[in-house]
Amino acid sequence: MNTVAVIGAGTMGAGIAQVAAMQGWQVRLIDVNKNVLSSAITGLQKRFHRLVEKGKLSDQEGCEFFERIIAQDSISDLQDISLAIEAIVENLDIKRKVFVALETMAPTSAILASNTSSLSIAAIAEGAKRPERIVGMHFFNPAPLMPLVEIIAATTSDSHSVDAAYDIATSWKKTPVRAKDTPGFIVNRVARGYYLEALRLLGEGVASVAEIDQVMREHGNFRMGPFELMDLVGLDVNLAVSTSVYEQMDQHPRFTPHDIQKNLVKESHLGRKTGQGFYSYASETPIPALHADRKSFDISPLLRDALTVFSVKAGVTDAGSTEQYIFGRILGAVINEAGSAYSAGVASALDIDIAMQKGTNYPIGPLAWADSIGHRNVRGLLRSLDDHVNDARYIAADLFANAQ
Ligand SMILES: NC(=O)c1ccc[n+]([C@@H]2O[C@H](COP(=O)([O-])OP(=O)(O)OC[C@H]3O[C@@H](n4cnc5c(N)ncnc54)[C@H](O)[C@@H]3O)[C@@H](O)[C@H]2O)c1
Repeated sequence: MNTVAVIGAGTMGAGIAQVAAMQGWQVRLIDVNKNVLSSAITGLQKRFHRLVEKGKLSDQEGCEFFERIIAQDSISDLQDISLAIEAIVENLDIKRKVFVALETMAPTSAILASNTSSLSIAAIAEGAKRPERIVGMHFFNPAPLMPLVEIIAATTSDSHSVDAAYDIATSWKKTPVRAKDTPGFIVNRVARGYYLEALRLLGEGVASVAEIDQVMREHGNFRMGPFELMDLVGLDVNLAVSTSVYEQMDQHPRFTPHDIQKNLVKESHLGRKTGQGFYSYASETPIPALHADRKSFDISPLLRDALTVFSVKAGVTDAGSTEQYIFGRILGAVINEAGSAYSAGVASALDIDIAMQKGTNYPIGPLAWADSIGHRNVRGLLRSLDDHVNDARYIAADLFANAQ
């Protein structure tokens, strides 16, 4: 039986341990914090118990899976592992130390993977003796339910290690995609437009939190609006990713974090987990907790035409002009970022689309959406939006700028 060491028994580590155990692997679940470790084990026992109660596992399976997970509070005795997945705090120095320890304790044949959301795999591998074995395996939260795993190849990783990580993710019944070691990889880069453009529309007084969410749900068929999704993910987690991508992308205006979100984080309104974020969760039905400071805005005839063509081609036939404006700005930003990632060689068009559907539940892959809208129509909207805003965030990605 294969053995994996999962380092970090927090939200992600515990979820990854569950996935591996359910797919027939022995698991060493490691955390320096004994309290976290024991609550992770209790939590896993409860999860298996619940799956048995729901009839999804037999009694015997529930017990076997749980017994496969062994807790330990230090990185030691790992001679039997073929894979390690690091899921500790998002801190470069601490992660580097963990990889140095893993290299000492694990056999030289083992693949060493990081679940980092926003750090460079090559940077984590700096100081390692054999950086070629180090890759990214980026799971999504909750790991047992979300199918996507981004497999990250650093410039230092060898293809054997990357392929092995890909094959393991497949054998764990996940959907792996391949991505280059670039800021935010695929999902955390392409999704920025969904959140940040919604925040800008709110800040400009174009519409309220609830109205923007409704447009994206009802016209765009997104399962959740951008504010509902930020509240679910946690505003602090979402802001940390935006800030990290912004810094790594040389502070490009596409990624500028928004003051509204920064202020909510400062006030500890972090979303569902604290009972309030963009919505208040005090009663059964969430109530918007922020009021839109509405202001009038002008849309040039050229932009209006471009928005109509874009919306109709995107399948939105019954939206008013403000709804088209909200939809066009948010989806335009998402599609342009997908095009930019593709043009930069981060991943294939297919993997970008799969990642956005499986990692964040988009109804259609953004590049498939761009194909059905027509690249020239996408470019038309981006050019009109570029004239309309006072920064460089809507400059068309090469994929659309060069469309015939
Ligand atoms: N939470 C998410 O939604 C999410 C999604 C994808 C990826 N990630 C990434 O996964 C990683 C973990 O995130 P999380 O949300 O599970 O964090 P978490 O805070 O829930 O858990 C991190 C755990 O790491 C432990 N730890 C810290 N230093 C350690 C060390 N030296 N050795 C062993 N254990 C150590 C801590 O005690 C803590 O229990 C981060 O890199 C994060 O960016 C998080």
